[in-house]
Amino acid sequence: MTERSTSVLEATEIVKTFGEGESATHVLRGVSATVARGEFVALVGPSGSGKSTFLSIAGTLLTPTSGALRIVGSSVLDLPEKALSRVRNRHLGFVFQFHHLLEEFTALENVLMPVYGARSWTRGPFGDRARMLLDRVGLSQRLSFRASKLSGGQKQRVAVARALIMKPELILADEPTGNLDRENSNELMALLRELSLDEGTAFLISTHDESIAQRCDRILSMVDGTLLGVEKGTSSPNGGPTGRESSSPAPDSFPVGQALGR
Ligand SMILES: Nc1ncnc2c1ncn2[C@@H]1O[C@H](COP(=O)(O)OP(=O)(O)O)[C@@H](O)[C@H]1O
Ligand SMILES: [Mg+2]
Repeated sequence: MTERSTSVLEATEIVKTFGEGESATHVLRGVSATVARGEFVALVGPSGSGKSTFLSIAGTLLTPTSGALRIVGSSVLDLPEKALSRVRNRHLGFVFQFHHLLEEFTALENVLMPVYGARSWTRGPFGDRARMLLDRVGLSQRLSFRASKLSGGQKQRVAVARALIMKPELILADEPTGNLDRENSNELMALLRELSLDEGTAFLISTHDESIAQRCDRILSMVDGTLLGVEKGTSSPNGGPTGRESSSPAPDSFPVGQALGR
């Protein structure tokens, strides 16, 4: 993992088929996609189109039927599980629709979970980073609150801080705003965008919400297990809207309806 690469994710001809023969479900039918360093990318598509399956494969949580996958320049599909978990821990962060916090642990301890031995780490350099991240997501007053005492929006912000603790190059976010109301969704997206810029972390964010996709540099559009060739948006990583501005960008800058096949 010493190789420098401009791409944090390179997926080539990813095929995923569940089952065999007549009962086989062809979920991904040859998906190729790259995400550059620091890029902020949306993965849109209707429910059942294969977004979660693709994110699981990109995150090395699921093995594809065929295809190639490089994370930060290194091929990962042939790695044994122990090496894979190291790749995940060092280079990738995950945010899911459901926060998956440990309710009985504090916000600070939850952020430190990937570091492990959470309690004893709270004073070390990771503890300082965890406090900084919780401050960045607006929760500096909630460090020692148990997760069970936080609101849904607050829990998801803890989950974002947890995803960033190891300074990953890429965060895979699967419908991160799926359980949030409009206001909390907008706030979370603005926050992800800011963190991406500040930390230089690339994001690949699945959503079926157009206004969420509009906040990204680029849109990958999945239909029935295939990525449409259209990739809309600005071409330069992090050169697009900040996510802090109007939610209705210039009409020709993000033709999301077109990318969504409407
Ligand atoms: N483990 C599995 N076994 C069989 N089919 C699956 C499995 N996981 C997902 N699928 C199917 O793959 C398709 C795509 O699912 P998914 O990746 O969750 O789509 P999305 O996230 O876009 O809603 C769906 O038809 C789903 O039923
Ligand atoms: Mg899904």
